[in-house]
Amino acid sequence: MPVPVIIDCDPGHDDALALVLAAGDPAVDLLAITTVAGNQTVDKTTLNARRICTVAGITGVPVAAGCARPLVQPLLVADDVHGESGLDGPAFGEPTVHAVPQHAVDVMHRVLTEHPEPVTLVPTGPLTNVALLLTRHPDSAAHIREIVLMGGSTGRGNRTPAAEFNIHVDPEAAHTVFTSGLPVTMCGLNVTHQALVTPEVLARLERLDTRLSRICAELMTYFASTYRRLWGFAAPPLHDPVAVARVIDPEIVRCVDANVVVELHGQYTRGATVTDLHQYLDRPVNAQVAVELDTERFWDRVVAAVDALGGRAS
Ligand code: RIB
Ligand code: CA
Repeated sequence: MPVPVIIDCDPGHDDALALVLAAGDPAVDLLAITTVAGNQTVDKTTLNARRICTVAGITGVPVAAGCARPLVQPLLVADDVHGESGLDGPAFGEPTVHAVPQHAVDVMHRVLTEHPEPVTLVPTGPLTNVALLLTRHPDSAAHIREIVLMGGSTGRGNRTPAAEFNIHVDPEAAHTVFTSGLPVTMCGLNVTHQALVTPEVLARLERLDTRLSRICAELMTYFASTYRRLWGFAAPPLHDPVAVARVIDPEIVRCVDANVVVELHGQYTRGATVTDLHQYLDRPVNAQVAVELDTERFWDRVVAAVDALGGRAS
């Protein structure tokens, strides 16, 4: 049976492929797409979600805009990575998929409480919407099967030496999620840096020769240029689809139990996901932490999803 999923995202090049993977893989029943400020402003991430839904033929899935700024600190965007639009690279036409007028948090609450079985939340951006859902609609928790997020790291960060971008943007929201008592799986940089869009992967996408695959290849080419320029990567890590892959087939993403604490006060470490892989702190396990990716099976699912949706582009 397909797993019912809500994706909360900040498209974003890798968020775009996460949406395609979730919509194109038969193991997922994509119930809603919610957007949050992160890689770009929420207006831009929402427009980008609409663009991806249009080119991928994702219809009948509500798209709802969420929080425009983090819970406490001012918004930090990643225009250096994703560009001024948040999805630089391809030329997109006017999207035909529209957003619903309701706030993302209220759409999440409605979908969760109306669905006949618990729903998996897959956040791939800052956790502002999810934190607000849990505080504004506490009854939602009983309808959440688990939260499988892209964010954090068992090691170093990518926006400060200690903090990964999604957590760095809204550490207070991340703290709310990791202390919620809900089943949380963290897919951090330590595992997403195993999902490298190598020339071989890019060639597999290009060989599909559909409008969607061409757009995905153009997105990856732009993404590769920024990762090369900013960090000297030979190939860019495709972070967000790793969280979706964990939902699709948990064997693709190996996890271990650990305690994860979000650092809120460190002068140089605020936003770090302090992951206790060896029980040094004698704190209770509160997360499953992804540590290893089956890259062959991962890319097989990503390419298959792009292929499955390829003929539906409009
Ligand atoms: O650090 C990588 C994460 O931050 C990804 O989700 C990327 O899309 C950005 O949101
Ligand atoms: Ca993202």
